[in-house]
This record gives sequence, structure tokens and C-alpha cells, in this order.
Amino acid sequence: MKTLEFRNGDKLPMIGLGTWKSKPGEVYQAVLWAIEAGYRHIDCAAIYDNEKEVGKALDYAFKNNWVKREELFITSKLWNSAHRLEDVELALAQTLKDLRLDYLDLYLIHWPVSFKPGVGFAQTREEFYTYSDVPLSQTWQGMEQCLDIGLVRHIGVSNFNISKLKEIIDNNSIIPEMNQIELHPFLQQNKLVGFCKEHGILLTAYSPLGSSDRSASIKKADEPSLLNNSTILDIADNKGVSAAQILIAYTRHRNIAVIPKSVNKERIAQNLASLEVALNEKEMTSLNDIGINYRFVDGSFFTSPQSPYSLDDLWERE
Ligand code: A2P
Repeated sequence: MKTLEFRNGDKLPMIGLGTWKSKPGEVYQAVLWAIEAGYRHIDCAAIYDNEKEVGKALDYAFKNNWVKREELFITSKLWNSAHRLEDVELALAQTLKDLRLDYLDLYLIHWPVSFKPGVGFAQTREEFYTYSDVPLSQTWQGMEQCLDIGLVRHIGVSNFNISKLKEIIDNNSIIPEMNQIELHPFLQQNKLVGFCKEHGILLTAYSPLGSSDRSASIKKADEPSLLNNSTILDIADNKGVSAAQILIAYTRHRNIAVIPKSVNKERIAQNLASLEVALNEKEMTSLNDIGINYRFVDGSFFTSPQSPYSLDDLWERE
């Protein structure tokens, strides 16, 4: 398995199984199929509301000697409602309990957006904290403490732009080791990728296939399709592989880990098999040429009129 390397030499398998949108009732089997197929990296989050079932699958795999704990790389994410210093470790403890693990390989701040404790998705102004109520550097301090006490091996962030990464770098002692961001040929994130690489921050690409299984409430009717894009399909047809495999190979060629979600046995295997798909310079250029700076996950669910956050706060302008 191809890997990326952390600062201490630990390795991250480049392809992981995504579990966002995988329903309870489906994710147990998906995790077991993935491990059986050879995946050694599983991406989770408390807000996906399926960590208990992922935990049940992991437990089954360990008890039946399919794989040892130390052979798997497990990531999870701190939800927005646990950003205060005193809440971070408690949230991690719940995730560890749900996943039936005694440590995580990687723990990420899921979003640079803070909610009051107990809030799932903030709607009213009262349900939000602002950056001055709970500075990101405070949340990061909580993450550093989790690292200190050995409950996690690595810490990082997700959905952070350059200015938010700088806020942490300037105010804390540990530089994040990972930024998990939306990334695919429609959204190449060159400026942010360049900044992360300069600072030794690894990257993971989410929504690599365009996340077309998002709920209708967070989907635009006219959104473009990666899997049906003619440039991507032409390259795929030429090689006799699928569009999804080209998309997964694209991030690998940029040295970025990738976490395609699937709950289908064949597609889980097919996505991992994209490790064998090689793209030449001309093909990478064609894929880069279809960039349109399009976000499938634009964060607008955090930026309602009642919210103290705006899309301008969240994203890089390229
Ligand atoms: P399914 O879970 O039924 O396989 P993303 O990772 O960008 O969020 O995309 C996930 C979506 O892409 C899901 O709808 C998933 O469906 C689908 N998907 C996953 N792998 C493939 C594949 N190899 N070919 C086509 N669609 C795929």
C-alpha cells in the first residue's frame, strides 16, 4: 500500500474508506468488506452518527484476527459543539468508546466553526460561539492535550484555510500534521496545498468522487458531475478503468491521501484497486484543465443569516 509519512515516520495509507453518509445498517458490512479487500485506513467522525457501528466492525475484525489494531490507521473528528478546552477530551473519550478503541491514529478538528455544547447543527444565533468566544487556538490546545496523554497518535484539522492554519501555527506549539479538505479536479486548492506542503502539513482529500449521495437539502439542483465528466471518462475509457479510479489516482499523483466513500462491495474493491492506475503528465494536465473552483460541500449550512460565520471566513479565495 502506498503511504504518506508523518513527521515521526508513522505512515498513512494513501487510500482510506470514507464513512460520511454511510448509514447504520450499511457501514458495518462496508468496513468489513474494506478490511477484507486490503484497506488499512478508515476515516470516521462523531457527527456521521455511525461510529458505534464502525466500532462493532472493528471489534469483529480484531477478535477474528483479520488484522491487528496497530495495522489499521483510524481517523476521527471533533465536532463543532466540543471546541472548548474542557470539552475536547470528553468528546474524544466518547468517540473512542463508540469505536471500541483505546487510541486513535489521527484526530482532527472537523470545522473551524464552534457551537454551544449539545448542539448538532446550530440554527439560531444563540447556538453558535464566535471565534472570540472560543478561539481556534484554545481548541487546538485541547487537541495537544489529547496527544500528550497518548489517546491519539497525531492531530490535525479539517476544512481549514490558510488564515486559520496560521492562527494555530502562530499561537500554539504543535503545527497541525494534517488538513483534510475537499479536493478533486473541479476544486484543486493549489494555494492551500502549497501552503500545507511548505509547512509539512499532510493533506487528505474528501468528496473525491463528488459526494452525489449528499442529502437533497445540501445539494444544488444544477451541480456538475465528476463521474460523468467527458474528460475524466475519456481518460478512464482509454485505460479500461472507471471514472472513480481516475479521480482517486488523481489525488495520489498529487501526494494527497484520499477517502472515497462506498458501501458497495465491488466499488470498495475497485476504489482500492485504483492504486494500480498510473496517470502521465499529459493526463494530469487535462484533469487540471477542468478546474472550475467548484465546492460540493460549500459550508453554507454554517452560514445562515443567524450565524456569526460567513463563506468568506471559511474558504480560500484562489
Ligand atoms: P456507494 O456507496 O453506493 O458505492 P464521495 O466519496 O465523493 O463522497 O462519493 C461517494 C459516492 O460515490 C456514493 O454515492 C458512492 O456510492 C459513490 N461511489 C463510490 N465508489 C464509486 C465508484 N467506484 N463508482 C461509482 N460511484 C462510486
